[in-house]
Formats: sequence, structure tokens, C-alpha cells
Amino acid sequence: MTPGIRPLIAGNWKMHGTLAEASRLAEGVKGGATGADLLVCPPFLHIPGVVSALRGSSVAVGGQDCHAAAKGAHTGDVSAAMLCDAGATHVILGHSERRADHGETDADVRAKAESALAAGLTPIVCVGETEDQRLAGEAEHVVEAQLAGSLPDGFAEAGGVVAYEPVWAIGTGRTPTEDDIAAIHGAMRRALVGRFGKPAEATRLLYGGSVKPGNAVAILALPHVDGALVGGASLVAADFLAIAQAAG
Ligand code: 13P
Repeated sequence: MTPGIRPLIAGNWKMHGTLAEASRLAEGVKGGATGADLLVCPPFLHIPGVVSALRGSSVAVGGQDCHAAAKGAHTGDVSAAMLCDAGATHVILGHSERRADHGETDADVRAKAESALAAGLTPIVCVGETEDQRLAGEAEHVVEAQLAGSLPDGFAEAGGVVAYEPVWAIGTGRTPTEDDIAAIHGAMRRALVGRFGKPAEATRLLYGGSVKPGNAVAILALPHVDGALVGGASLVAADFLAIAQAAG
């Protein structure tokens, strides 16, 4: 944690669940009262249903991607303004699965983040090294380069969030050592403060990649880890809430 930063526990539901399952999951996390802010990011189609299931609760809703353009001939895409209109307040951008499945580059992610900020959404920009890059000792350098390329000007001032998700830790049950997570998060803080100045001292830096109830306390206690971006465990309400409890 970073003193003074309220943690954010975000669930990335990826491409899972029917609308009925998504609504049930939303009902299940609704009562989660903790010292952390909670966010769930369902598939696009389920956003209105989840927003409605969460009405009256403090759990926020986000998208998992948006297009960089405000509108236009982009078959199959969704704009940041459409996410806002559906009741979302956040959007995950540059997830490694988007970078891998859809060839998204740092420049694409930066353009999407600009669009999200213009629409009034809080972007959560994901960065993280592959296993080969870690083994080659390049993790810190890769993450710094992704940050430099993916974050638009004004990002920290606008309250943008960064998520460090090592690609090899996603869905594998493996995590970096606590020292390795702390080292990357420290490097990210230095890079952000170097570029954005004082506002970046308050930027939330999330860790993602096989966060579970069993490792959340240790991970969330690390310096400059201000929350978690949770995949698999966010699909089970009790596990997601247990992780949220670990945040305070
Ligand atoms: P897992 O928690 O399933 O490893 O997924 C992490 C992730 O990709 C969150 O965005």
C-alpha cells in the first residue's frame, strides 16, 4: 500500500458468464463493505444488467476495452462514451490479452486512454513483461517503456490507474516474488513521478496475475501496491470479497 491512497480492488470478468450469472455475481459482491473501492468489469453486453444489479451499492462498473475514436464506422467496437452511457465509470485498457489477441500497440493503448479520459472514464492501463523478458532481466525496462508509450499526457492528473500484470502470471497460479513485485511497483512510481510530477504520487498502482484470497494479504501489503486487478478469483463472489478484505 501507499500511505494516503485508498486501495482499488477490480475484477476483470473477461469473456465469462451469461447475463443471469453476471447479475448473480454482482448481487454477491454488492454488500462488500471494506476499506477499499470495488470495481467489476463485465463483458460489454452485461454492463447494463450489472449496473442495474449494483444500483444503490458502492461497487463501480467498468468496461474491458474501448475504441480510440468517439464514434464512426468501426464494426464490433464500443466507444468510451457508450460505456459511460451504460453506467460504467472505468475502462481496462491494454490488457495483455488485448495486446496479444488484437495486436494492440502502446500507441493504440495511448489513443484509447485519451479517448477514455475525454469521455470522463477512468482508464486502467495494463503493462507487464513476458516470461522470456523476465528471464532476460528486462522486466523493469519493458514495463517502463510500456508506461512511456501507453500513457497520455494528463493521465496522472486525471486519476488514471496503472495495473502491473506480468503476462506469465495471468491465469497460471504463478506470481513474481514479493521482492520482484515491490521492485517493479517502485520503478513504476519513480517513472510516473518523473514524468507527471506530484500527481503521480497518488496514482493507484494495481498488481494483477493470479491474485487469490491466499496471497492477497502479502501482495497488498507491499509498498506501492495500491490494489489488485483480479481475473479468475473475481468470478467467485466470496473470493473477490476475501481479496477486498485483505486490502483493509
Ligand atoms: P488471473 O487473476 O486469472 O490470473 O487474471 C489476471 C488478469 O488478467 C486480470 O486482468
